Amino acid sequence: MCGIVGYIGVKPADYIILNALKKLEYRGYDSAGISLLTAQGNIYTEKEKGKIVNLESLIFEKNKKISSYCGIGHTRWATHGEPSMINAHPHTDCAENISVVHNGIIENYTQLKKELIEKGHSFKSETDTEVVPHILEDYLKETDDILEAVNNTIEKLEGAYALAIILSGQEPVIIGVRKGSPLVMGVGDKDYFLASDIPAFLEYTNNVIFLDDNEIVILKKFSYDIYRKNEKITKQINKIKWDAAQAQKSGYKHYMLKEIYEQPEAVKNTILDKVNFTKKEINFENFDESIISLLKECSNITITACGTSWHAGLIGKFLIESLTDVTVEVDYASELRYREKFIKPNSLLIAVSQSGETADTLEVIKKYKKLNAKVLSICNVLGSSIPRESNYTIYTHAGPEISVASTKAFTTQVTVFLLLALYIARKRNSVNNEDFENYIEIMKNLPALLENTINATANMDKIAPELSKYSNYLYLGRGINYPVALEGALKLKEISYIHAEGYPGGEMKHGPLALIDENFPSVILLPKDSLYEKMFGNLNEIKSRRGKVVLFTSDSNIYDNLNDYADYIFKIPDCDKFFQPIVYVIPLQLLSYYIADFKGCDIDQPRNLAKSVTVE
Ligand code: G6P
Repeated sequence: MCGIVGYIGVKPADYIILNALKKLEYRGYDSAGISLLTAQGNIYTEKEKGKIVNLESLIFEKNKKISSYCGIGHTRWATHGEPSMINAHPHTDCAENISVVHNGIIENYTQLKKELIEKGHSFKSETDTEVVPHILEDYLKETDDILEAVNNTIEKLEGAYALAIILSGQEPVIIGVRKGSPLVMGVGDKDYFLASDIPAFLEYTNNVIFLDDNEIVILKKFSYDIYRKNEKITKQINKIKWDAAQAQKSGYKHYMLKEIYEQPEAVKNTILDKVNFTKKEINFENFDESIISLLKECSNITITACGTSWHAGLIGKFLIESLTDVTVEVDYASELRYREKFIKPNSLLIAVSQSGETADTLEVIKKYKKLNAKVLSICNVLGSSIPRESNYTIYTHAGPEISVASTKAFTTQVTVFLLLALYIARKRNSVNNEDFENYIEIMKNLPALLENTINATANMDKIAPELSKYSNYLYLGRGINYPVALEGALKLKEISYIHAEGYPGGEMKHGPLALIDENFPSVILLPKDSLYEKMFGNLNEIKSRRGKVVLFTSDSNIYDNLNDYADYIFKIPDCDKFFQPIVYVIPLQLLSYYIADFKGCDIDQPRNLAKSVTVE
């Protein structure tokens, strides 16, 4: 989704803004643009379709070395109007004295545009955003007070927005406004930043102010003011622990590969602040008596999320229901937000989100809170909207995830679910001491287990040339590994554009078997568990129809003749059932990665997809 950047300070703004936009590329975009305030107080704007490098070379080709220390930039993910140079942001008013970048949707823009045209304004683009500079233009004719004009402008806007605005002909300022779309502020030594996400400016500062809805920030050269309406407010500066190196590729060909390899470390960081291995205890920061008694007493929990986080939620259901007597429902946030549903007073909603900004998940949280339900979120990005809307948050501490296809976010979310399920089981006495301590011990060794898994399956690149020839794949798993099959199929679809479907093995006979022939390969998860024989039956069914099989199976205790049933066999280190999803998903991530890489796909930024889906 769209990314916003703003910079004011002592460094060349063009360089900083282009650099920051590149850091936001992972959000997904189709065009980019920049507006700089020149030393003469004019606004210089340049925009281009496609990648940021196109914009960069356009600026260099024109050899415009602009001396500017204040500007805004944007990566656009088209919602209103096709991806084009004209529709790319920034957008300006009639006199081109105001330049605006926007993330979100102005829902009432059609009506506003009609009124503005009637008043004599002329529009250049098809976007909803362009109404903003024109409304502000009118208000700035009535007053010199920028805050008053901005407040009047946003009063007219319906929908969600994060805006960054610059004005010509006066002391350089950047105005940032937030309602429903992410906007954070970076506080440097002699400069200030605005961005949709922290990695944009992490290279320059890790001092961050999280802006809340309906707040306006006015950044000046050496000072800033934050307002809620007309009231000046003070906000806390947070020190972010992520460092810039974590948001770099560090020698890996793609962020995705780096993030796959980071999983042992990421999971270690997830566990670190939650498990006391000496006392054999699990604790969550900020859990108070109210959430503890809710977890002890509630009879059902609803989990909501989108995409990969939804798959983590399905595993969460399996874990909580296996270890406790609580019933768990899992719903896509995009469905749940519009569904009529009776929400009991003592209900708990668990919202799962890597970014903490997914619009549908955020809306479900708001809906549940209105009905007095408590909300616990599982999130990676500190201070993002979802944790701020939730009553409680468990952070995954996976570090910045840049690749659009989620990897380490998933394994750390599932780790949190396992810890939470064990925690609830402990509070409800549904797990005995010995088992609980045994799980804690396995947890201690989980990072090493993931390291071994990566080592055991890193040679997946060898089979990529052969496997990239097919256009369809079936992924099969059972029980706790069924969502892993879904996640494996999603990874393949997202980055290699090969169609793939995940199915529970037991459903094979109810449809998918009809598809199997020598051109329709299957990826099968066959861990050593109580359903081993059943899954083995699927293997038989596929092989007798000449289907190709890529098999992921346990290191030990397998039949000797598996070679008769599978074309490619990968042995995965043995582990307890509850830990299998975290382990088995890794080779599936690698498989998709190498197939997509062989096909030459744009792995970190797959076509049409965005990392953070901040609009519906
Ligand atoms: C997008 C991303 C996925 C992600 C999903 C949910 O579709 O491309 O990788 O799983 O959003 O995002 P969230 O940040 O809420 O986990």
